Amino acid sequence: MAEITHGVAAVLSDLKNRDFLSSSDLNSEETKALLALAFQLKQGHRRIDLGNRVLGLIFTKASTRTRVSFQVAMTRLGGQTVDLNPQLTQLGRGEPLEDTARVLSRFCDVLAVRTYAHKELESYAYWASIPVLNALTDFEHPCQALADYLTMREVFDDLEGRTLAYIGDGNNVANSLMICGALLGVNVRVASPKGFEPMPEVIKKANALSIAGATIEVTNDPIKAVNGADALYTDVWASMGQEQEQAHRQKAFSGFCLNEDLLGNASPEAIVMHCLPAHRGEEISAELIGCTASRIFDQAENRLHAQQALLAAVLGGL
Ligand code: CP
Ligand code: NVA
Repeated sequence: MAEITHGVAAVLSDLKNRDFLSSSDLNSEETKALLALAFQLKQGHRRIDLGNRVLGLIFTKASTRTRVSFQVAMTRLGGQTVDLNPQLTQLGRGEPLEDTARVLSRFCDVLAVRTYAHKELESYAYWASIPVLNALTDFEHPCQALADYLTMREVFDDLEGRTLAYIGDGNNVANSLMICGALLGVNVRVASPKGFEPMPEVIKKANALSIAGATIEVTNDPIKAVNGADALYTDVWASMGQEQEQAHRQKAFSGFCLNEDLLGNASPEAIVMHCLPAHRGEEISAELIGCTASRIFDQAENRLHAQQALLAAVLGGL
């Protein structure tokens, strides 16, 4: 992994005060620079002290990894977090988002928001005068994608020309993987059942952003998608907010379980990935979660390192 050169440091300094709502809010150089910094932080080669800066966490959905990794990242950077659970703030009683975002900007230095509609996240970013980070919306999960490509980067020398096959729902995680992968020169193949493919505009956007000839392909055939791939990835069939569709989705996604048969069609060096939480026996077999090819818990750990890099960059702590 590249050292932090002056050029990379200059790229990172441009991220100061920027929002991170979508993987496409960063260009290729910025994405690579963040991964390089995340790796340095993970290795303990770099210490950054943000000096008491405060991250506000607005989470309207459950979270283990994202919430805790943001909290620990901020603590390690010498800062603090405040938990702004919407049920305990006036947001839960209907105070307008525009007032909430402006008030919180007077107390906090950065906000991480997990919510349903992506438009709501964009409203926070519009009204807040501090950086707003996407901690997951229905449309994207860009912090997850940073950690995922950091994980791939640790395994493979160079990401350019590698292929990630995502098997399952064309959801928020798939969208960010396509865009971030394109920015890093990774070919991304998505296999979803008919009617559950990613949105055409996201596929188009990812293709438009791709470097080094990377391609974004969508198919309804999981075997075709995993053929020779370097990384196999899946996520739940019913995301948060889609619980009532669980039974219907279970039928529609039959044949899309990431299992040893599919792994057998991938590259012999292929790794297995999942953003977690996982449903064993649905989108992934229990064996694959614990197999030697699994990097699933590295991915979870890398949330911490990737978000530490992101926080340091947007708070100008470099
Ligand atoms: N992968 C992920 O975002 O996990 P959490 O929902 O636990 O934050
Ligand atoms: N697609 C899943 C990701 C959870 C981290 C969801 O939105 O629930």
